[in-house]
Amino acid sequence: MHQLYINTIGCQMNVYDSDQIERALAPNGFARTDQLEEADLVIVNTCAIRAKAEQKAFSFVGRLAQLKQRKPGLIVGVGGCVAQQEGEKILARAPQVDLVFGPKAIPRLARLVERVRAKRLRVVDIEDSDGIEELDLSSGFRDDGQVARFVTVMQGCDNFCTYCVVPYVRGREASRHPDKILEEIRVLADGGVREVTLLGQNVNSYGRKENLGTFAELLARVNRIDGLARIRFTTSHPKDLSDGLIDAFGRLDKLCPHIHLPVQSGSDRVLKRMNRKYTRAVYLDRIARLRHVRPDMAITTDFIVGFPGETEEDFEETLGLLETVKFDGVFAFMYSDRSVAPASGFEGKIDEAQKKERLQRLLQQQEVFTLSSNRALIGCEQEVLVEGFSTRPGLAEENVSPRQWSGRTPGNKIVNFNPDPDCAGGDAVHPGLLVGVRIEKAYSHSLWGRPVRVEEEPGGYKGDTCHAA
Ligand code: SAH
Ligand code: SF4
Ligand code: F3S
Repeated sequence: MHQLYINTIGCQMNVYDSDQIERALAPNGFARTDQLEEADLVIVNTCAIRAKAEQKAFSFVGRLAQLKQRKPGLIVGVGGCVAQQEGEKILARAPQVDLVFGPKAIPRLARLVERVRAKRLRVVDIEDSDGIEELDLSSGFRDDGQVARFVTVMQGCDNFCTYCVVPYVRGREASRHPDKILEEIRVLADGGVREVTLLGQNVNSYGRKENLGTFAELLARVNRIDGLARIRFTTSHPKDLSDGLIDAFGRLDKLCPHIHLPVQSGSDRVLKRMNRKYTRAVYLDRIARLRHVRPDMAITTDFIVGFPGETEEDFEETLGLLETVKFDGVFAFMYSDRSVAPASGFEGKIDEAQKKERLQRLLQQQEVFTLSSNRALIGCEQEVLVEGFSTRPGLAEENVSPRQWSGRTPGNKIVNFNPDPDCAGGDAVHPGLLVGVRIEKAYSHSLWGRPVRVEEEPGGYKGDTCHAA
């Protein structure tokens, strides 16, 4: 048995791809380890979205030079979006690297690694092809106890937002066949997975090119899979969030009332320069419709601050949007120049200090809304899918137990609770179980509560949740 260590940087798609890398290499006798020192093959699955992510990848690759000196047989592979972007240049820059492969080369990875191993060659595979080559999944998936997993339903992006590297490194949009997706989710559900998050850069256009049916239809089919309790998806682009998809939130019992709908800016002028193809008014209309269909809908978003040409007035419109929507949570990023993306040539670049200042103002203002949306759940019973023990125990003074269970609400908020022997089910709590938790405390990043009941049989729990509209 050979040891495989994977360092995953970047979005959920890379998390999924790293699992696929593991599966692709299982037939070659590789098993995943979390001990870097023990590895025979180290792969860094990279992200190119911002300069910082790229630097993180190169600094890790740099550290591997020393490891390779101590362990000359070590194979070093660089995969993911930086690999796709830089190709051969990585070999020139880092002599310790043996293999460079793009996201589309994962189904070919077993052969690539074999070439490196048997012939001691340095290999690059960043070939971009249309469509999707499916990985042979006969090796199954390793049951590592995770009860919530990602499943990629489409690759690539055709939107070309002017700041973004993704269309250049992930290629054109291509959707997986629904039968393949359903088969994969059934295997996961049979193995104990209760929640799946379907992934795509723009899930709204799922199946469009290939005539595979709509994303809402795919969701309806996933909803029928036995054993599965929850479905989420990300990311959806506001410009094509259809009424059909919005209505699915009212129709499908397993579809969680949470949507991540990246807005990027509250200023129409900036949105236009970003090539987002919607206005603030269209965005607000989509939010209103979502809340009409599901008043308990949790809404999160992404912002970029300091986009070239962003004025103080533009930025204030973004702050105004925060006030209007009152998001449950936001991710905000300082604009980062990506040389392949058109915005890198735009005028009016904002200096780093100003970007930082805007970022802090935005996050500070949002903090109030995040906290108040969490506080609105105090006193309510929330259905929590238990994922495992909390990684940040000891937050609340009520923690009587050294270890707390941790899971998420349908709205994707983290809830921690003490194992409570007095609760129905008592010590029987385990990952994968749906537990009704009465919320008692709210913090910025999590909630705390007491378990009041547990699911009697898989899929059977429907607690009486209450929500602040
Ligand atoms: N497909 C998704 C976004 C994927 S990238 C969508 O369109 O909604 C995730 C987030 O990274 C984006 O929403 C954006 O906020 C941020 N991002 C992308 N490119 C960036 C850049 N050049 N600088 C800063 N943030 C960026
Ligand atoms: Fe990037 Fe825009 Fe595509 Fe999202 S929709 S991946 S931001 S180009
Ligand atoms: Fe990064 Fe590639 Fe995802 S650039 S955000 S890992 S698609």
